[in-house]
Amino acid sequence: MNILILGSGGREHSLAWAIKQNPKCDRLICAPGNAGMAAIAECADLNILDGGSVATFAEENAVDFVVIGPEAPLAAGVADRLRDAGILCFGPSAAAAQLEASKAFTKDICDACGAPTARYARFTEAAPAKAYIRAQGAPIVVKADGLAAGKGVIVAMDEEQALAAIDDMFGGEFGAAGTEVVIEEFMEGEEASFFILSDGENVLPIGTAQDHKRVGDGDTGPNTGGMGAYSPAPVMTDAVTQKALDEIVKPTVAEMARRGMPYQGVLYAGFMIKDGQPRLVEYNARFGDPECQVLMMRLGAQVLDLLLACAQGTLDQAQVNWADDHAITVVMAARGYPGTYAKGSVIGGLDTLPEDSGNMVFHAGTKETDGKITANGGRVLNVTARGGSLQEARDRAYAMAEAIDWPEGFYRNDIGWRALS
Ligand code: AMP
Ligand code: GLY
Repeated sequence: MNILILGSGGREHSLAWAIKQNPKCDRLICAPGNAGMAAIAECADLNILDGGSVATFAEENAVDFVVIGPEAPLAAGVADRLRDAGILCFGPSAAAAQLEASKAFTKDICDACGAPTARYARFTEAAPAKAYIRAQGAPIVVKADGLAAGKGVIVAMDEEQALAAIDDMFGGEFGAAGTEVVIEEFMEGEEASFFILSDGENVLPIGTAQDHKRVGDGDTGPNTGGMGAYSPAPVMTDAVTQKALDEIVKPTVAEMARRGMPYQGVLYAGFMIKDGQPRLVEYNARFGDPECQVLMMRLGAQVLDLLLACAQGTLDQAQVNWADDHAITVVMAARGYPGTYAKGSVIGGLDTLPEDSGNMVFHAGTKETDGKITANGGRVLNVTARGGSLQEARDRAYAMAEAIDWPEGFYRNDIGWRALS
């Protein structure tokens, strides 16, 4: 079959890498793609936020299946447009993607289905929001309702910081995303991510992971899109996983179906876990980046069959073949990230690395210039390895990272520390 993947990050390179290994995949096109994807697939210059253009391209190229990577095309209704055109597609409708695009929407769903989450209140004006903060006290969490590129959440350790966040949000710092604000109880515990496929009715868990959001070693410095991840997440024991499925994930999927917006795609659930009890922090309507890279490393070629079952509504007949393994990914970013950074530096040493089912460098912001791989973004490479233990995977990933010759880049040295300590 002919398959089109939308996106250009490490997440999409890892999806392309796994899908390409499945014998069902005849022709693979990535749009817009990056240098890593260009090495294993055709790349097409397509406006992936425009559902009409994507549908026309898919029809003209006899595409049988479209896999949507990032959240922006989901929120823009690209999956709706493709389904209207009769094109098989992996990714939720814009209505269902509100689970990521609106925090207030998700809180309502949790209320309706009884899913454990932080206590909260919603506000559209500053004065009552501030009164609520003063009444609740700190620590407290202030969130812009809409999509704010991961920056719309302020975990305020004191009241002053929370009150300032209210001024920023209603002052327009997050644009339309901040016209409504959700204020939440601060939850303590350990965070983990859980990835579940849903075809609207059936659910199939496909793995757990933990990421490292801060830029610096020891989880210090500003937040980033993620500097590394590993799978599985030890805190997601069988008992916690079962509770999360029964108390949070299944009720959410049932409530979405009841509201006439069945959720079809991957549900990426973030939990706070304390004393064996998971509580929902957030949902995302897509795979995490870089969490996807470790999941793809572990799942391999079967991913295509799973994504197809999800899109076709046959997840009840699908099954995941698990290996008792571990995977880790170390992000190499351009110096300066997540602030300003330069583009165009040359990355050497990539061709000396083993690339196989246990070792892969997934590309994020890369470009090929005059036959050389150059940096073209903030997060640039995802050095990924699989092993019988997390330690083995970690050692292999770091050996690869050290062999990459890129003085303009940097990476964290402690990915996986929590699970290894
Ligand atoms: P979100 O964008 O909702 O994932 O929030 C970003 C990060 O803020 C989460 O990964 C948590 O580390 C933290 N966070 C969000 N909500 C809460 C909460 N209610 N209590 C504690 N930490 C939170
Ligand atoms: N790594 C976090 C995310 O993809 O949202």
